[in-house]
Amino acid sequence: MDNNLNQEILDKLTKVCLCKAIPRSKIKDSIRKGATTVEAVRKVTGSGTGGCCGRRCTPKIQDLIDGYLDNQWQ
Ligand code: FES
Repeated sequence: MDNNLNQEILDKLTKVCLCKAIPRSKIKDSIRKGATTVEAVRKVTGSGTGGCCGRRCTPKIQDLIDGYLDNQWQ
């Protein structure tokens, strides 16, 4: 299995927003489509609206945005 496929599978399985069960793949899709702030990702995906009010997922979303803007993933 190639690395891209492994990464895609991991992204589908890994939840970024645990409260809303939103996978990393959905967060990444929103970033690719232009949501390059945490607030924009929240609006598109509904992340950050769960019981913890985004305390757990906000830093993870920010890291993904920073990585995308830094060309660490596409
Ligand atoms: S983990 Fe995202 S709102 Fe709690």
